[in-house]
Formats: sequence, C-alpha cells, structure tokens
Amino acid sequence: MNDEVIVRLEGVWKVYRMGRRRKIEVEALRGVDLGVERGEFLAVMGPSGSGKSTLLHLMGCLDRPTRGRVLFEGEDVTRLKPSALARIRNRRVGFVFQSFNLSPTLSALGNVELPMIFAGVPRKERLARARELLSRVGLSERERHLPSELSGGEQQRVAIARALANSPDLLLADEPTGNLDTETGQGVLSLLSETNREGVTVAVVTHDPEVAAIARRRVRIRDGRIVGGDDV
Ligand SMILES: Nc1ncnc2c1ncn2[C@@H]1O[C@H](COP(=O)(O)OP(=O)(O)OP(=O)(O)O)[C@@H](O)[C@H]1O
Ligand SMILES: [Mg+2]
Repeated sequence: MNDEVIVRLEGVWKVYRMGRRRKIEVEALRGVDLGVERGEFLAVMGPSGSGKSTLLHLMGCLDRPTRGRVLFEGEDVTRLKPSALARIRNRRVGFVFQSFNLSPTLSALGNVELPMIFAGVPRKERLARARELLSRVGLSERERHLPSELSGGEQQRVAIARALANSPDLLLADEPTGNLDTETGQGVLSLLSETNREGVTVAVVTHDPEVAAIARRRVRIRDGRIVGGDDV
C-alpha cells in the first residue's frame, strides 16, 4: 500500500439501472483509474452528465462501484460492511454536496453539530467546535438561523463548516461555487485553499476556471472516462 495515496480508484465502473424492470443501463463511469495523494488539491472538470458527481460519491464512499475497486487509505471499500463504510464517511470524509443538503429543521449551529453527534463527541466540545467553525466561515452572527433564513452563499459556508466538523482527512466538494456570485464564491474558494494548506486533502468538482486555477492538479472527465489532465 502507498501511504501517500488517500483514495484510489482502480478500473471503476458505475452502471445505474433504471426503468420498471431495471433494464435500462446508464454507464456513468467507464473504467476510471485515479489516485488522490495526501495533501493535494485536485479539480475534477468535465461537461454536465460526464460522471463528476458519481466519481466524487465513490471517492467519498457514499456509493459502491459496479465493477473495479475503491481503496480508501489502502482498504478495499468494496469489501467493507455498511457500518465500516458509514464510519469512514463520518470520520474521514467531509462532503459538500452540489445542493447543500442541510437539514431544514436545524439551525446553522445544529447542522454543524450533527456529524459530531453521530461521532459521539460530548455536547460541550461539540458546541465549542461548531461555534469555532461557524466563526471561521464568517457566520457567528447566524448560528440560530435555519437554512431557509440564510442566503445561498451562507448555506454553502454552513455546508463547508459541517463537512469539516470531524476534522476529515479528505474534503470533497461538488461545485462549491456553482450557485454563488463572484464575491461569495471567492470567500468559499479561500476557505477551501486555507483548509488544504492546513493539511486536508481537497477534491472539488467544478466548471469554474478560477477554482480549477487554484487547484494543484486537474483531471478532465468525459462520458465516464478520464480524458486528460495535468499528468495524463
Ligand atoms: N441515481 C442515478 N440513476 C440513474 N442515472 C444516474 C443517476 N445519477 C446519475 N445518473 C446518470 O449518470 C450520468 C452521470 O451523472 P453525474 O451526476 O455523475 O454527472 P455530472 O458530471 O455530475 O453532471 P453535472 O455537471 O450536471 O452535475 C448522467 O448521465 C446521469 O443522468
Ligand atoms: Mg454533478
């Protein structure tokens, strides 16, 4: 096992089955080989529908491949039990979804606390950490607000704070600036860079050339295959 690689995809296929008899197949990924090194900042680019979100979900152990292997910190996740997978997702990975996915009934503070509740962090420590993270993303004044009482950019920043709650090794962000105006997008970008400088491995899916430019490596995906990048 290579200690420098945090997650590696080997010959990964993801085929979604659709329709009443599940006979319609959508090949979202078609033989992807990709390793993400510890400490790197990777940008995944490609047209809509090319398989970027699918790829990120597999990297984050949110889903399993149809064929091929996903090795997370050297362990073949295709063989792990659901409970072990859930543990990796909760402790090792922070995920920022394309559409935020905040809990609508919880405040900003409650959303950031949630992964720490699952991890069994004591209440006092949890609250202190959630407040610290909200302050880092500039939302100390908004901790009691529900997601519906926050702007899009603020919701995105809560989602990033939540993703960082359990100090993940790997932060995965799906179009983190996709719905934001330029200025708010810049704020989110600096937050991602800063997180990476602190030692967290970051992989982002993006259409945004500015995001791609601050990444240290870029890969391009088209029709479920990696077709290029800095080192391909
Ligand atoms: N749950 C699903 N069931 C069936 N097909 C799916 C499912 N999720 C994604 N797909 C299909 O797989 C392909 C890849 O989807 P994916 O969401 O990975 O694309 P993407 O590159 O993230 O696109 P976008 O830039 O629009 O977010 C698409 O053709 C999509 O329609
Ligand atoms: Mg997507």
